[in-house]
Amino acid sequence: TRIAVLFGGRSAEHDVSIMSATNVMRALDPETYDLVPIFITRDGRWIESRFEASRPTTPETGTELALLPGGKGRMLALPAEGPAGEIAAIDILFPVLHGLFGEDGSVQGLAEAAGVAFVGCGILGSATAIDKDIAKRLLTEAGLPVARAVTIAAGEAPSFADIEGALGLPLFLKPARQGSSVGVSKVTSEAGFAAALAEGFRHDTRLLAEEFIAGREIECAVLEDPKGELFVSRPGEIVPAERHGFYSYDAKYIDETGAALKVPADLPAHLEAEIRTLAAKAFRALGCDGMARVDFFVTGEGRILVNELNTIPGFTDISMYSKAMAASGVGYAEVIDRLVQHGLA
Ligand code: DAL
Ligand code: MG
Repeated sequence: TRIAVLFGGRSAEHDVSIMSATNVMRALDPETYDLVPIFITRDGRWIESRFEASRPTTPETGTELALLPGGKGRMLALPAEGPAGEIAAIDILFPVLHGLFGEDGSVQGLAEAAGVAFVGCGILGSATAIDKDIAKRLLTEAGLPVARAVTIAAGEAPSFADIEGALGLPLFLKPARQGSSVGVSKVTSEAGFAAALAEGFRHDTRLLAEEFIAGREIECAVLEDPKGELFVSRPGEIVPAERHGFYSYDAKYIDETGAALKVPADLPAHLEAEIRTLAAKAFRALGCDGMARVDFFVTGEGRILVNELNTIPGFTDISMYSKAMAASGVGYAEVIDRLVQHGLA
């Protein structure tokens, strides 16, 4: 199977994608897969990469690649010098891209237009899940429990008193469409609110102000088989270090001891069962297919809230998706094989 792994990309999670893709490429069995690594620069060009010494190269210039519309995986190669040509067609595209321009349906749409199979969630589920505002509305409509939130569009100037009145303090401000906690702030005061709005609007034109939930962060991996049946992993728990206050970008990727993963999470059986059922419902409510990681808050009283879904969850060393699957009996290479089978079906 000739598999093109797309990584890097235009979003704020460019570096996270490189970490994820490196692990995915390491897990691809060379007997089964003929790997075509494609690095996407921060400005969006697809450059031919090489996987050497267990790492993909991240060239800013070189041979640019393009999928041919309707080409069923045929790819055009434009070398920096010399004539354009064609490389061997790919069988499947694996976007290991996080955030906008990759996890949001855009690359999925490109793959559909090219007529090539791809790994993971399709256009609709990708687009709904990436948008915390739209996702929350669909989850609510499906009767799933979510934290209370107020959506703030750029140009609106909500008063701090109104937001505080609706949600209490502390509260979180999050860009509607970002991952890895980029642009997310915890707000504890009016001054902090203004700063958090400015920071949030650097990343998106819509923000969510969300009530603070004092609870544990619990996550489940969902994997769909080619027949459409869902496998939901045992839940894992993220335990952020006290000093970070919440599971921020730094706690995730910069500070190696910023958070610990506990897989499976220590939960009473009835809560675990309920969480797994809710994970499957949330996956369906957003129109997802293929895969997603479903993130929850679980309070001390046993209230379960769906926080968000990630349709291309992190595959970094500290990421939950593969660890939760492994704790449920499905190893890394097997996860990749199942994802590819789903994509090819
Ligand atoms: N957005 C990051 C990669 C995650 O959800 O794991
Ligand atoms: Mg996330």
